[in-house]
Amino acid sequence: MLIAAASYQGNGGPAIPTRVPAVFPASWRFPAGTHGTFAQHGIVASDNVLAAQAGVEVMKEGGNAVDAAVATGFALAVAYPEAGNLGGGGYMVIRMADGRTAAIDYREAAPLAATRDMYVGPDGKLTGESVIGPKASGVPGSVAGMVEAHRKFGKLPLAKVLAPALRLASEGFVVDSAMYRSLRGENSRIGISSGKTLFLPGGSPPAIGSRLVQAQLAHTIKLIADSGARAFYRGSIADSIAAEMKQIGGLITKEDLARYQPVWRTPIRSSFRGYSFIAMPPSSSGGTTVTEILNILEAYGPPSRFGSAAEVHAVASASQRAFVDRNSKLGDPAFAKVPLATLTSKTYARSLARAISRDHADPTSSLGGTLREGSETTHYSVVDQFGNAVATTTTLNDLYGSGIYISGAGIFMNDEMDDFTSKVGVPNMFGLIQGEANAIAPGKRMLSAMSPTIVLDPKGGLLLVTGARGGPRIISATSQIILNVIDHRMSLGDAVSAPRIHHQSLPDSIRVERGGLDPAVLAALRAMGHGIVEGGGVASSNSIMRVSGGYEGMSDPRTAGGGAAGF
Ligand code: DON
Repeated sequence: MLIAAASYQGNGGPAIPTRVPAVFPASWRFPAGTHGTFAQHGIVASDNVLAAQAGVEVMKEGGNAVDAAVATGFALAVAYPEAGNLGGGGYMVIRMADGRTAAIDYREAAPLAATRDMYVGPDGKLTGESVIGPKASGVPGSVAGMVEAHRKFGKLPLAKVLAPALRLASEGFVVDSAMYRSLRGENSRIGISSGKTLFLPGGSPPAIGSRLVQAQLAHTIKLIADSGARAFYRGSIADSIAAEMKQIGGLITKEDLARYQPVWRTPIRSSFRGYSFIAMPPSSSGGTTVTEILNILEAYGPPSRFGSAAEVHAVASASQRAFVDRNSKLGDPAFAKVPLATLTSKTYARSLARAISRDHADPTSSLGGTLREGSETTHYSVVDQFGNAVATTTTLNDLYGSGIYISGAGIFMNDEMDDFTSKVGVPNMFGLIQGEANAIAPGKRMLSAMSPTIVLDPKGGLLLVTGARGGPRIISATSQIILNVIDHRMSLGDAVSAPRIHHQSLPDSIRVERGGLDPAVLAALRAMGHGIVEGGGVASSNSIMRVSGGYEGMSDPRTAGGGAAGF
């Protein structure tokens, strides 16, 4: 392997360790050696470039990374309706340049009328109502969470922060091929509600190159800009949501909306081979599981060569074990006793690492998992000119959520209820088999895999802001991008483009991205006893890394239409 000569000095911070050019298999679909977008001062990496530009606009007006994250979040709700949302929820991990860290949980909550077995039909089978239609939605948290993050950390007035999103909604934006394809692909979901009037006029999406104006959404954003989250949870927007829900048989009431509160949580602080990181605690499983995977790998020993059978075996075996814990022990901490300290402890990880054989796979059934076996989100990363950083992941769950559009508010509602355990032992839409800790209860938050994460270098300087979309594969993408940067010394472009693997304990096999591993490596893994399933992308990330003289922002080549913008 070649060793790059340059050592990176970023932004006055401590030296960044030398990067090593990556080598990918010849069959891999993305080339090694690509670069993202460079910016000297501030940068946003997002699945939608217009939304990234909204964040940059408020930074240029003096706003900080939290202002920019909120501006980007609202702009995503306008320009990227497949996942950006005001009708969903998410998580934000914040690290201010003065060292303060924070994590805000604005995950949806089950409505008060929700019941444990609400998706089990009279025949004992799941009805499918957790994934589409009026009963699939949790109480949305995005507006409350973003407005609260802005209240605590923002610099600019809220109206200024929401101005770019308001403009995108009221003046419209040009429909591009990515949006056209996305709408066309989901026409049956969007077609179940009044969303079709705006997004499928005459049965097809607005033409590529036409301008999409969202007057109702503009009105909603204006109300929030003028009077904060109250308008959404207690005012006329709440009235529209509750009225529509009542009419179509949904569960969310005005009382549900009035009771919703985002929660500030103590972020997970952990370390990996001398680097430290800040991650999201439950109600997301993301930070806990990323931490457990990294701890197991640190205890297992020094890394093997990227893409070798030994390396894939180690990462898959660590992920498999961490997912056994995730699927059986994690849930909303207000409802389930979550052994967070144990799951994130180095001692516990050492005991798990010791039990991993160097030469064979262990079946999940032998790992103490008590469960038997019986996509859409968006992550964005922000760094501002002051050195503050924000990692945010937000979701409607499926593309366009439940398909239910609240015409009076101009928003799609989520189908996040499917992230709960609808029935113990039965997989959800991501094939996750989860336990009692994540059973449905009124007011409870469904367990998430979202993993917004900020990594610091060994001297405490900001190094990496990362996270991904893609259900449980988010955890794999996030932990492997961190491994690529720290263990394999990849540049950000390589770390994000590199082939990824995924093992969520059940199904008991490694999912590998097609073409991502050499045939000899696949054969060696099979010989060790690993089941291998080749498939499409393992999640999709938008990450930022500190580089010489500034920052590099990289939007995952797995997702069309994303990009980074900076100044
Ligand atoms: O919170 C979760 O873990 C899921 N609702 C995330 C869904 C997702 O990432 C789908 N996106 N591609």
